[in-house]
Amino acid sequence: MLNSKIREDFPVLERKINGKGIVYLDSACMSLKPKQVIEKLIEYYTLYPACGGRSQHKLGSEVNEKYHRSREIIAKFIGAKKPEEVVFTRNTTEGINLISRSFEFKRGDVVLTTDKEHNSNLLPWQLLKEKGVKQKIVNSNPDLTFNMNDFEQKMNEGNVKLVSMVHTSNLDGYTIPAKEVIKMAHDFGAYVLLDGAQSVPRMVVNVRKLDVDFLAFSGHKMLGPTGTGVLYGKEQLLENLNPFLVGGDTVQNSTYTSHVLLKSPEKFEAGLQNYAGMIALGEAARYIMKIKRKNIEEHEIELNKLITNELQEIEGIKIIGPEKAESRGGISSFYINKMNSHEIAIMLSELGNVFVRSGQHCVHSWFNAHNINGSVRVSLYLYNNQKDVETFIETLKNILFLK
Ligand code: ALA
Repeated sequence: MLNSKIREDFPVLERKINGKGIVYLDSACMSLKPKQVIEKLIEYYTLYPACGGRSQHKLGSEVNEKYHRSREIIAKFIGAKKPEEVVFTRNTTEGINLISRSFEFKRGDVVLTTDKEHNSNLLPWQLLKEKGVKQKIVNSNPDLTFNMNDFEQKMNEGNVKLVSMVHTSNLDGYTIPAKEVIKMAHDFGAYVLLDGAQSVPRMVVNVRKLDVDFLAFSGHKMLGPTGTGVLYGKEQLLENLNPFLVGGDTVQNSTYTSHVLLKSPEKFEAGLQNYAGMIALGEAARYIMKIKRKNIEEHEIELNKLITNELQEIEGIKIIGPEKAESRGGISSFYINKMNSHEIAIMLSELGNVFVRSGQHCVHSWFNAHNINGSVRVSLYLYNNQKDVETFIETLKNILFLK
């Protein structure tokens, strides 16, 4: 388990609501923020609250320098070849939309996803239908693990231009075998985009080792500020893409009738940027690297084993996804027949200050296909401890009249 001193870095964990401490189990939606990240935000607004990219004065240069440093840290964090392969976005959703809008698709091309995609990796492809681009789906195995045979079959059906898949599912915490998927996609001449919103915060995702073409992830799930995210792309691929948002800071020059775009990443970062947020995101990545993602992953699995053992003992509870906690990282998503997941979440909050997410977690398509109303999702991160798990289980048992 990780050192419990980590908790001291997260000011919100000192909060008491109705005289009781809080148990935060909703990190798949939003991670808490350590003081190191909060201090970076304050530092920007206090010491150099200026424009990057354009103003030549000292404060502007300071912003540029720190903004660029943050890009370098993120490049290191994901193993990119160069900082220029890191495009700052608002979130994973924006990164995926950027690809869907900028990638050159032609009529008949296929985008292949899994059957467990977040709406952000589903709707952008549905909108391409108008251009004659088809979306196909790889169906998971019955235990919701990745079905390599179905994947191969869909690739064999031809015309797959892009494989766009969730790396770690926000529905059940399962991680697809990305390396094998990418290898096979490349053998068929397709490109691969990974939705790394849940994987990047908690496991080593090295873009060069994976040989992935594009990777989108969010800052707010990895200890960073809201409204921060990253799209990684291989240098040459980014060079070949046209931005879908253009404007200030994306051009070398313009006339009344023409313009010359800057290179990547600037050509994708139109308008005044979230300098404070991105500088603080670099700090978040630095913080995670110091703790080491291998340790975070192990910590989450250890706690998830405790949760899984307890949930499996309760009659009527069904955990979504693979049975073993090891295959679900830091997520346990469950439902109880005839009980409304939102009601359980509200009771957990009211009775125990236990904060979980409920409902369909933006994966409506999967819930609709399985005729399930929703689930209660417990999601862990590096600041959770055994006491959090015990409070959650105890409060849940109270709600279910098991105590
Ligand atoms: N925000 C989404 C979730 O909570 C991704 O799962």
